[in-house]
Amino acid sequence: MPDTPIVVTVDGPAASGKGTIARRLAEHLGFAYLDTGLLYRAVARRVIDGNGDPADSDSAVRAARALEAAELAGEGLRDETVADAASVVAADAGVRAALLDFQRAFAAAPPNAAPGAVLDGRDIGTAVCPDAEVKLFLDASPEVRARRRVRELRERGSNAIYAAVLRDMETRDARDRDRAVAPLAPAEDAFVIDTSTMNADEVFREALAHFDAQTTSRK
Ligand code: DC
Repeated sequence: MPDTPIVVTVDGPAASGKGTIARRLAEHLGFAYLDTGLLYRAVARRVIDGNGDPADSDSAVRAARALEAAELAGEGLRDETVADAASVVAADAGVRAALLDFQRAFAAAPPNAAPGAVLDGRDIGTAVCPDAEVKLFLDASPEVRARRRVRELRERGSNAIYAAVLRDMETRDARDRDRAVAPLAPAEDAFVIDTSTMNADEVFREALAHFDAQTTSRK
């Protein structure tokens, strides 16, 4: 077992396939897994539940500072209203700063003494864990991602409309990419995978091959 945990970062826009791959890598490697989007969603949920405005920095920062780990398993975090508010609170520098320690602590000392951690998000390879050994960045065209999201929403019983999902996704992507703090972008040393024409098994194989190549010296 390595002395220091191996950190794997998986960044990318919504519905790029990063969650699926990150979860699968963690399971395969016996690593701990953190979906960092849940942190921003849980902050948004707190603000909404308190009838606050996600764009109001004071409310959002207060919610981020008060956040407890148990809230990451809360109900309704996958709703579109929460996703939208999450991209608003995520643009706030104070919110991002308040969530930094939790993410870094998870990577440095993964729960259950796991030998490594996989974190997925938007800024993990660039801002949260810039020294991570393995960095992946998953991308896909907006149309492909919107189709995936529609399928996901319909499986959950919603009658999602493609055009609306695509429009909302492009709005949130722009907010994530254009914000001043920790914008969505691949780290210089990230391995970029365009998943537009790949299935989950193909992406997983590429991701694992990259992991193996980056960590051979550890074995
Ligand atoms: O991955 P997701 O859809 O659950 O993320 C919800 C929002 O949180 C999304 O708008 C981007 C933001 N986010 C972020 O800014 N940084 C992260 N590390 C993870 C998510």
